[in-house]
Amino acid sequence: MSTEILAAKYLSLFLEKMNHTSLKRFTYRIKIKGNKRHRVQRLLFGTISYLLTIDTAIQRASQELKINLANLSTLELNLLRILTYRMLFDNYCISDIVRRLNITKASLIEKILSHIYLVISATNMENISLQYSFPQWIIEILMQAMSSDKLRMFLESLNKRPSKWIAVNTNKISIDDALEQLKKEGFDAEPDNDFKIAIRIKKFSRPLNKTNLYKQGIAIPASKASVGVVEALKISPGDIILDACAAPGIKTILISFYLNDSGKIYAIDVDPRRFKRMRYLLRRFHVKNALLVQADAREIKLQTSFDKILIDAPCTSSGMIGISPDIKWRLRPMMINKFVKLQLDILKNLIQQLIDMRNRTEIVYSTCSIFPQENEDLMRKIIDTYRNEVNIDLEGLSDIGSEDYYGGFGRRFYPFIHNTIALFLTRLIV
Ligand SMILES: C[S@@+](CC[C@H](N)C(=O)[O-])C[C@H]1O[C@@H](n2cnc3c(N)ncnc32)[C@H](O)[C@@H]1O
Repeated sequence: MSTEILAAKYLSLFLEKMNHTSLKRFTYRIKIKGNKRHRVQRLLFGTISYLLTIDTAIQRASQELKINLANLSTLELNLLRILTYRMLFDNYCISDIVRRLNITKASLIEKILSHIYLVISATNMENISLQYSFPQWIIEILMQAMSSDKLRMFLESLNKRPSKWIAVNTNKISIDDALEQLKKEGFDAEPDNDFKIAIRIKKFSRPLNKTNLYKQGIAIPASKASVGVVEALKISPGDIILDACAAPGIKTILISFYLNDSGKIYAIDVDPRRFKRMRYLLRRFHVKNALLVQADAREIKLQTSFDKILIDAPCTSSGMIGISPDIKWRLRPMMINKFVKLQLDILKNLIQQLIDMRNRTEIVYSTCSIFPQENEDLMRKIIDTYRNEVNIDLEGLSDIGSEDYYGGFGRRFYPFIHNTIALFLTRLIV
C-alpha cells in the first residue's frame, strides 16, 4: 500500500480519537516496520500541523469547482488532505502519484488538487493564521506579546519538531564517554553549549529508551528546556527540595543528578496514574533520596522548611505543539483560565505558608505554555498580591534561555532560538 494511503488511514483513525489521545501517543502505537513508519509519521505530523491551511485550501477549491466534498468518503477526504500537504509544503508534483494510487475517485481528487493554492486573506491576522495554521484567537493573544516578525518565526518553529535531547548523570559517566557510547550505538550526537549535562541527538539509530545509557539509568530523554528549569534551581549539594508538581518525574530525576544522592527531594503529584509512572521511573533511575507523596499542591501543608521549591505547573502544554501539533486544535480560550486558576491556587497555597514560616525560600516556577496569562501575567498578579514579601529574582539566570515576552518577569525558551520546546521559567524569592 502506498505511503499516502496508509497515512490517510492513520489520519482517519487519529482524527476520530483526537479528543482523547495526543498524536505523540498515537504514533508510538503505529505498527508499520522500517522506513515507511517514519514516512507515515512525517506525513501525519505535517498534515495535522497545517490542517487549517489545508482545509481552507480544499474548501476554496471545491467551491470554485462546485464539487460537493460530502461525496468523498472519510478516507478519500483524508487522502486529499495528505496530498494537499505534499503539494503545498513538500513541493510535490501530485498528478503522477494520484494515478499510481489506483483509487476510484482519482480523477475527482486530481481535479480538486489542480485548483489548490495558498489562500490569502484581507486581514493580517487571518493571513498569519492561515499561513502558519494556528487558530486566530491564539494569534490574537501572541500579537499582544511580540512583534510580527518574532511571532512569524515563533509560529513557524512550533510547526517543526524540535531536537531531541538527553540529560546525563555526570556523576556516573562523563559527557565524552556518554557521547562515545551513543556513537557506538549508531547515534549522531553533540554536547550542548549551555548546559553541561545535556546532549543533543542529531541522528537516531533507535528510540532513546533502548540505549544502554537509559537501561543503566544514567541518562534520560529530557528536553533542553527541562534541563534549563532544573539549572534555574542552582542546586547545591545537600539542598532540601520540594518538587510540587513532579510526575512523571523527569525533572525530579534531573534534580537527583545534580544532588548526587545528597539532600532530599519531596516529590508531589495529584494524579494517580502519573504518580505510579513517577514511582517506576525514579526506581529505574536509582533515585534514593526522594520521598514521594500523592497529594494536591493547592492544599498541602508544609511540615518542614525547604531550600528550594520547584512548581512545574500544570498548563495548556501549548509549548509542546512542535511535538504534538494536535494540541493547537484541542485548545480553547477557556482552558487558559482554568489553568491560570489552578496555577494561582498552587502558588498561593505555598507562598502564604512560606511567608508565615518566615524562612527565605526560592521558588522556581515553570510552564510549557506559550501564553502570557499562565506566565508573565501570572507573575505580575503574584507580585501585586504579595508586595514586599515576594520578589522576582533573575540574577544568575541570564544564561538560561532568552528574555520573556515583557522583560523582567522570567526567562523563555523559544524553539526557533534554542531548538527545544517553548517554555517559561522564573525564580521567586519569598
Ligand atoms: C507539567 S506536568 C509536570 C512534569 C514533571 N515536573 C516532569 O518534569 O516530569 C504538571 C503536573 O502537575 C500535576 N498536577 C496537576 N494539578 C496538581 C495539583 N493540584 N497538585 C499537584 N500536582 C498537580 C499533573 O498531574 C502533572 O503531573
